[in-house]
Amino acid sequence: MLFEGKFAADGGSFDNRITKLFDIQYPIVQAGMIWASGWRLASAVSNAGGLGLIGAGSMYPDVLREHIQKCKQATNKPFGVNLPLLYPDIDKHIEILLEEKVPIVFTSAGNPKTWTGKLKENGIKVVHVVSSAKFAKKSEDAGVDAVVAEGFEAGGHNGREETTTLCLIPSVRQAISIPLIAAGGIATGRAMYAMMALGAEAVQVGSRFVCSPEASSHQAFKDTVVSANEGDTVLTLKKLTPVRLIRNQFYKQVQEAEDGCATTDQLEDLLGRARAKRGMFDGDLNEGELEIGQVSSIIREIKPAADIVSELWNEFKQTATAPFVY
Ligand SMILES: Cc1cc2nc3c(=O)[nH]c(=O)nc-3n(C[C@H](O)[C@H](O)[C@H](O)COP(=O)(O)O)c2cc1C
Repeated sequence: MLFEGKFAADGGSFDNRITKLFDIQYPIVQAGMIWASGWRLASAVSNAGGLGLIGAGSMYPDVLREHIQKCKQATNKPFGVNLPLLYPDIDKHIEILLEEKVPIVFTSAGNPKTWTGKLKENGIKVVHVVSSAKFAKKSEDAGVDAVVAEGFEAGGHNGREETTTLCLIPSVRQAISIPLIAAGGIATGRAMYAMMALGAEAVQVGSRFVCSPEASSHQAFKDTVVSANEGDTVLTLKKLTPVRLIRNQFYKQVQEAEDGCATTDQLEDLLGRARAKRGMFDGDLNEGELEIGQVSSIIREIKPAADIVSELWNEFKQTATAPFVY
């Protein structure tokens, strides 16, 4: 299978199935992220030519509605919402997405068969996030418009298979013919180029955008991310729902519990005290959960989301047109 992608004659945009599907300038998606991607980040990325996503996973229904409405005020470009399907109030969230006529929805953490039909009947473009070729094929069969394949390096919740992005993208590319977006470990235009060379048609970038002033995450969390080094993140909680986070006091407690053969109930109890909000939003660096990707070890600056988009795009373009300059 070969798919076409080309730069516009003036070099100011990219033309392929993903940029057409979302009606965007660059094949760059800002990941939906709990406690990070509200309307400010999503609208800034959409205004800069990428696709911004509001992360619904940390929002009560009325908060989600407010963020969608504010995003509409802040941009007239397309934007979307990321909806983890395990959310308890999922019916209410779906209703809001329909009422607010959100054009694009990225679903994750659940079965794509459950909601894709309803969203698509209402004219919404649906993308599902997976971590294996098997689930990419299931998503295609469920009728989604595109798939995000997210590798082991990625921040946040992840697959149990531990397949790296480098291995996952070619394998998903072979398994499906619908558009494919690569995620996990991408923070530079060169990495974006590598993913496109492997068969992706766009990239979804998470950790890099956490380090922007527009991300709603706590400043102390952002500062921790830009000073993180190789090996500072780990994929843990594999018994429950695997998640990549920074090794801190909370992680030590999880590890001790797992080493002591804690039951899933005990692990849920440990997690139950709003750990993600505590870490990433309230800035409790010891007792909170600090979700971030391996690529944090090369992120060294907090910079505006629009600058991140243009850096990714310019480096991608430069590498694609004059590659192998070291
Ligand atoms: C702080 C944080 C929160 C995240 N929250 C979500 C989420 O709510 N839903 C989701 O599908 N993925 C979530 N993710 C995963 C991202 O959507 C994205 O796929 C991932 O960050 C890509 O890898 P990268 O961090 O190496 O760029 C989260 C990631 C981070 C870093």
